Amino acid sequence: MKTNDYIERLYGEAVKAMRNAVAPLSGFRVGAAVLTSSGEVYTGCNIENPSLMLSACAERVAILKAVSEGTRDIRAVMVVSDGGDYCYPCGSCRQLIYEFATGAEIFIAGGGGIKKYSIEELLPYAFKR
Ligand code: THU
Repeated sequence: MKTNDYIERLYGEAVKAMRNAVAPLSGFRVGAAVLTSSGEVYTGCNIENPSLMLSACAERVAILKAVSEGTRDIRAVMVVSDGGDYCYPCGSCRQLIYEFATGAEIFIAGGGGIKKYSIEELLPYAFKR
């Protein structure tokens, strides 16, 4: 698959997933899509809960869906939001990406286009065991 093809595909899937966001508390909708080495895409959206600690970020939902289906080989992560600006993964999601999508390309979509990062850039000095 050509580079732009999978980035476009991930972007489209993340935007679709964002429509399922449950965000009555923040009003901020986020979508995520992850690509595995075998070409499968898993998506997630943020899901908020009045019991705040039960809320989940879009990236977390997508990554845990992939892991629960048996894949540990996530090659790319895409994050989109409806906030206009770039939605950078929270600290917890960065740790999750570090653990389960270590070498992945991380794409963040915003008003100025799609930016690409590595987890080393987003989470230097990561906790590891
Ligand atoms: N959120 C995500 O889903 N991903 C991020 O990268 C940052 C934040 C969610 C959590 C919460 O539902 C809302 O966005 C911000 O309050």
